[in-house]
Amino acid sequence: MVLKIGVLASGRGSNFQAVADAIRSGRIKAQISLLISDKPGAYALERARQAGIEAFYMDPKEFSSKDAYFQRIAEEFRAKGVGLVLLAGFMRIVRKPLLDAFPWRVMNIHPALLPSFPGLHGQQQAAGYGVKISGCTVHFVDEGMDTGPVIIQAAVPVQHDDTEESVSERILECEHKIYPEAVRLFAEGRLEVNGKKVVIKGNCKVTGAGALISPPIE
Ligand code: GRF
Repeated sequence: MVLKIGVLASGRGSNFQAVADAIRSGRIKAQISLLISDKPGAYALERARQAGIEAFYMDPKEFSSKDAYFQRIAEEFRAKGVGLVLLAGFMRIVRKPLLDAFPWRVMNIHPALLPSFPGLHGQQQAAGYGVKISGCTVHFVDEGMDTGPVIIQAAVPVQHDDTEESVSERILECEHKIYPEAVRLFAEGRLEVNGKKVVIKGNCKVTGAGALISPPIE
């Protein structure tokens, strides 16, 4: 049975698009069954419709609590037979009802090399701090803010005259590579969470010195 994916998005949805494109090209054996947005005007909704994927806005204010909101999301995904949930620019902390329904089956992409610069505006934090290298991280989601086990990371240089925009652009290009890659590894049953570590099973090269993406994309 092909893996079914549920997506949560709040904004432009370029990472959702990257995963959808990788599925369409045959690189990932999976299908996206449903996209839910907490923002009515999210461009991700439009992208989903254009790709023929069911998508709708769900207003958090219509629910008695945050837990109730995430409980409903879990039910919607379960009804579709979802086996993996992707946060794609979803601007809320995921609550327990969804995490309990999908244990180590919720992934997120963060625009910094975690555990550095968690939270909002990872790119701006990196540019402002003066680090020489930043990047992006795909991780499984736990109850903390960007604290779950790391799956893949990609590094990019940061120059002294970089702005939030220029760093964001460089990082985004890597995001669109590593998020589909993490989904592919999951779809192939190759990710195993062992404490804080994600073990990648099968033929996967270990990080070489100077590798930009770790593990390197096959
Ligand atoms: C990305 O930078 C992602 O890392 C962060 O939010 C942004 C979402 O962009 N979590 P998009 O909606 O996928 O284009």
